[in-house]
Amino acid sequence: MGDLMNHPHGETATPAQPASAKPPGPCSIVIFGAGGDLTKRLLMPALYNLANTGLTPEKFVLIGADIAKRSTDDWKASLHKTLESFIGDPNAEDQIKAIDEANWSKLAAHMSYVQGDFTDAGFYQSLKTELESLESQHGTGGNRLFYLAVADRFFGTIVEHLGAAGLVEHKGDEGAPWRRVVIEKPFGHSLDSAKALNAQVLAVLKEEQVYRIDHFLGKETVQNIMALRFGNGMFEPIWNRDRIDHVQITVAETVGVEGRGKFYEQTGALRDMVPNHVFQLLAMVTMEPPVGFKPEAIRAKKYDLFASIETLADDDAVRGQYGAGTVAGKPVIAYRDEPDVAKESAVETYVGMRLKINNWRWAGVPFYIRTGKHMTCRMTEIAIQFKKAPLAAFQDTSLETLPPNWLVLRIQPDEGIALQFEVKRPGQSMRLAPANMEFRYSDWFKPEPNVGYETLLYDCMIGDQTLFQRADMVEETWRVVQGVIDHWGSTTPADFPNYESGGAGPAASDALLSHDDRTRHWRPVSVPAKDDRA
Ligand code: BG6
Repeated sequence: MGDLMNHPHGETATPAQPASAKPPGPCSIVIFGAGGDLTKRLLMPALYNLANTGLTPEKFVLIGADIAKRSTDDWKASLHKTLESFIGDPNAEDQIKAIDEANWSKLAAHMSYVQGDFTDAGFYQSLKTELESLESQHGTGGNRLFYLAVADRFFGTIVEHLGAAGLVEHKGDEGAPWRRVVIEKPFGHSLDSAKALNAQVLAVLKEEQVYRIDHFLGKETVQNIMALRFGNGMFEPIWNRDRIDHVQITVAETVGVEGRGKFYEQTGALRDMVPNHVFQLLAMVTMEPPVGFKPEAIRAKKYDLFASIETLADDDAVRGQYGAGTVAGKPVIAYRDEPDVAKESAVETYVGMRLKINNWRWAGVPFYIRTGKHMTCRMTEIAIQFKKAPLAAFQDTSLETLPPNWLVLRIQPDEGIALQFEVKRPGQSMRLAPANMEFRYSDWFKPEPNVGYETLLYDCMIGDQTLFQRADMVEETWRVVQGVIDHWGSTTPADFPNYESGGAGPAASDALLSHDDRTRHWRPVSVPAKDDRA
């Protein structure tokens, strides 16, 4: 499309639109887990990118809290070093060409490090003293954002201590200082533990103070699903059970457990990816149009959607575990040989599922989802298959051979949207061939450095909860998968490992689709060559 319109960068073809984003009002951010990977590789680069676009507050305090004894200067230096290591690295989280030292120094001038043990009440007193002193120095008006970038076992404890120390008092009145807490995933390990954590958190905080984060919602392509569906009139009439045959959602990764064996043995692919990331993709595609774009209007529709997903039966789900193999040309070991993984581990690294949504729009439309590690390539896509033409009216073509139309939302990499349909093959006889219409983000918009946390952090600072999970949403998603978690927890599959690293997952996963309809298959796990998409 870019070529047709002769606008290699669509943005520059129309007069620049005024940027609607303004810097957030004064506030302090306190990051728990200041020395951790999430802070170094994602949160700080995101704050730095926000600073570069003028979207950090003028009056600002940034406190890093962690157990290690170190100085503020040492903390700043290590963050700067991580940022530097991204320069020129095509696999780095942030694609930066250089560090803007003036902007970095401006940001660094607001930073301070506080050492302490998150389970010790005394630590919260020193944090309070430091915070109050910096607040009056920088004039942040007492607005505070606490970011829990720590292992999930600390979530409840930190919130309780914040409450006991009087750090999160929040009246919610216009003009009164606000206090917010960002809680990372995993939010619970089961329905019961998610409910218990919600109860613990909500005993201290109001729901409007809680920002349960899912970083998939920070991806532009995920946010774009709402723009595509609700910013265009042409999709709505076909976005339902009348026209859609089924939907496939794939989150394929090439990475393995990457030294996270201990975490993964407790978690597995289902808990790690499904009730959170994959369900977020599902909700974006299937939720009803909201009555407006206010956060509560959108969250209400998402909640309705989660509440309509049928609780999974055991035979709606298939699990897999990777054996040894080759990924991206490199030999890799089996999951059971990874450090900190049991030799007989029953933990799954792949999940395939069939979901049913019991509402008027989707009744009878199966949603197939799969996610796995050590797969052929990295590919996250939502593929919508439309019902076939009712009749093959063309000579030499039978209904059997008429391929279906696909609308494919490519979330990552090679972000874009493709529509596949049939065209006449040039020649004297009427023969069909599949063709592809392509929208590629990179053809239309200049890529900006972005690690995916910028929008989420910005939204926390301005108090927009649209992209964050409400307590009831989280509980509904656990409700859907809990039965399968229980079943899998009590049995060890005899065939593990059952897929080769570098492959497309276990064979049993294909049966999920063919069982419903023998013409249904998973789409290939491969990123098509740029000019060869079909
Ligand atoms: C994390 C999971 O939440 O998401 C990881 O714990 C997974 O196991 C990651 O690899 C995927 O996120 P992204 O943004 O790299 O696709």
